[in-house]
Amino acid sequence: MNPVHADFFAGGAGEERTLKANTDAYARRRIIPRVLRGTGPRDLRTTVCGTDLSMPVLIAPTAFHLLAHPAGETGTAAGAAAAGTAMVVSMAATQPIEQIATAGATLWFQLYPQPDTAFQDALIGRVTKAGVKALVVTVDSPVLGHRRRDLRNGFTDLPDGLACANMDGRDIVMDAALGWPHIDRLRAATGLPLILKGILHPADAALAVEHGADAIIVSNHGGRQLDGAIATLDALPAVLGATGGRIPVLIDGGIRTGTDVLVALALGATAVLVGRPVIRGLAAGGAHGVRETLETLRAQLDHGLALAGAQRPADLTPDLIT
Ligand code: FNR
Repeated sequence: MNPVHADFFAGGAGEERTLKANTDAYARRRIIPRVLRGTGPRDLRTTVCGTDLSMPVLIAPTAFHLLAHPAGETGTAAGAAAAGTAMVVSMAATQPIEQIATAGATLWFQLYPQPDTAFQDALIGRVTKAGVKALVVTVDSPVLGHRRRDLRNGFTDLPDGLACANMDGRDIVMDAALGWPHIDRLRAATGLPLILKGILHPADAALAVEHGADAIIVSNHGGRQLDGAIATLDALPAVLGATGGRIPVLIDGGIRTGTDVLVALALGATAVLVGRPVIRGLAAGGAHGVRETLETLRAQLDHGLALAGAQRPADLTPDLIT
């Protein structure tokens, strides 16, 4: 891969402390396994917001897949379909949603709230028509994070011939003026499940429930927005305390192994999303590479469940983690 693009995919904001904190938080946890529970074969299937998944692992929305592999987002979606899980398509996807949909995966669509609500409504109509099953609204980006690698590399624009293919030639606007009224408007504008991505503070988690969110994703954008922000795994318990089981709570950031997935589920997440590992799989082997990445996580999670004395994700409880 072009090293400038590799830096775009791998990098975080500022000193990359939060980027590192996300993976460190998993490395700090240890599992206290149960034994002799007669678990037998495992069953990893999960349903989130009406979407059936073969396992509680989804593909996080990430930008510009054509920079990673010529198959682009359609390749990623084919990998998701083969693994029986869902892909969250980024608003910054480099292929049209209608094309990505041909891969046959269950798709959710990620949206940065746009101040031009007429355009936003049209885009929601377009992705709904393409068969998208949920809207993921990213709320952690009132402004773009300071990505020093990109600044150093002068990576500001996509190469000629590539564009955000669902934006009708527009730029994605990040608008610090937007607030909860914009979420209320989105809530009224769509019958699709509405999922807020980028919640870290328990007070915001409670507000998300009050404003009708169907789920939230505890996320710090993979350490690419506010450097110094809390690791997502460390933020999870307080968020769960605030939501009190009223809506599913998903998490992303720093999940690299099946046992990381196990830890997140045991601490109360309904499912997890993975970003960079999927991009690496795509870069290395297109759709097949994405599938391999997901199947590796599945095999590790399955093995971890067996060794921890659990049959299903729901058997995992916080007492298994220290
Ligand atoms: C992202 N992320 C992201 N999130 C989002 O809502 N819209 C987007 O367009 C992007 N784009 C994007 C590009 C790249 C290269 C990365 C690495 C990340 C954030 C993403 O959805 C997710 O929160 C993190 O990637 C999760 O962390 P891990 O799994 O990469 O550690």
